[in-house]
Amino acid sequence: MTRALVLGSTGHIGAHIIRALLADGHQVRAAYRRDRFLSVLDGLPVERVRVDLDTLDGLREALDGCEWVFHAAGYYPGFTERYQRSLAQAIESTRRVIERLRAARPARVVFTSSAATIRRVPGRLADERDAEPWPLASWRPLYATVKIAMERELLRARDAGLPVVVVNPSLCIGEYDARPFSGRALLLYAKHRLPVYVEHTFNVIYTGDVGVGHVRAAARGRLGERYLLTCRNISLKEFATLAAAAAGGPPPRLRLPYRAVWAAALASEGVAWLTRCEPVLPRAVAHAARVEQRLDGSKAVRELGLPQTPIEEAIARAVAWFRTQGSLCVARFLKCHDRVK
Ligand SMILES: NC(=O)c1ccc[n+]([C@@H]2O[C@H](COP(=O)([O-])OP(=O)(O)OC[C@H]3O[C@@H](n4cnc5c(N)ncnc54)[C@H](OP(=O)(O)O)[C@@H]3O)[C@@H](O)[C@H]2O)c1
Repeated sequence: MTRALVLGSTGHIGAHIIRALLADGHQVRAAYRRDRFLSVLDGLPVERVRVDLDTLDGLREALDGCEWVFHAAGYYPGFTERYQRSLAQAIESTRRVIERLRAARPARVVFTSSAATIRRVPGRLADERDAEPWPLASWRPLYATVKIAMERELLRARDAGLPVVVVNPSLCIGEYDARPFSGRALLLYAKHRLPVYVEHTFNVIYTGDVGVGHVRAAARGRLGERYLLTCRNISLKEFATLAAAAAGGPPPRLRLPYRAVWAAALASEGVAWLTRCEPVLPRAVAHAARVEQRLDGSKAVRELGLPQTPIEEAIARAVAWFRTQGSLCVARFLKCHDRVK
């Protein structure tokens, strides 16, 4: 039995890491920041500790005696944040956390990065060898840029002796998506509010498998390696059809040209600016929709034994969970829960 600290334990991925650790009989210290999402830990035999990675309050104490550390609380830029300021903040906060990790000397650090750090390669499946270089060769949306920069900090720390394994999940679909971020697209279609789609392909994985992938990365992952945690490359149309069907709705029928999506994103950001809310369709998402991302995650399947739950099941589980939260109710969905800071 290993004692593990999970940073970001109340998050979508963190909640699944905790469950995977408990299923394997490990002892878990669950670090949370805000009380608001603590209910995702209800009923779990974990030690709860409050940690704020902005101020580092509670981090040293939380690290004490933990052999494994899962860092799933990486800085998440809001869609409306300034590019350079966000990037600087991400790098700075990652460096400060790395310093504390070095001092605590855990046996393994698993860092949750993102498949957004992998280049989009037209015409073939992309894998870990297609990781974006730093500095970037060309412009990338803020989210991807921040994730690439943070990942690079962790890999540099690995060169200086920190025992890091990096995992790069694709779009995670599953329970405990309390905010929700990756579940937004699912909610739009599950509530069959969106009758349209664009021609786009991306990769989706069940978040429960991502949790297991993290734990296996700690147990068997090679130090300094990246592992894509992916499952199925799927078209938006098929994803939307599955999401709508899981909620008992009709599939989207109208295919939009890309320029209409871009115009909708501009309008959405305009509304967001006026209402001080996160946009429903940020330009970064519209930009991502332009280039498909087909991924090959066979390295994690081979080396970590990453499970591959069918996406139909992931969507069904997520929809069922959202239903228990009342998130499929229109009034609730329209509520602005992501105020711009
Ligand atoms: N979801 C996906 O599809 C996906 C895919 C690929 C990669 N990722 C990456 O995986 C990581 C986790 O994603 P997620 O979907 O689980 O995010 P999430 O649901 O928003 O959860 C983030 C967690 O991190 C905590 N956190 C954030 N900033 C913190 C800080 N300064 N101090 C302490 N705790 C902090 C949050 O605490 P609060 O409750 O206090 O906010 C929350 O528990 C992110 O880095 C994301 O970029 C996610």
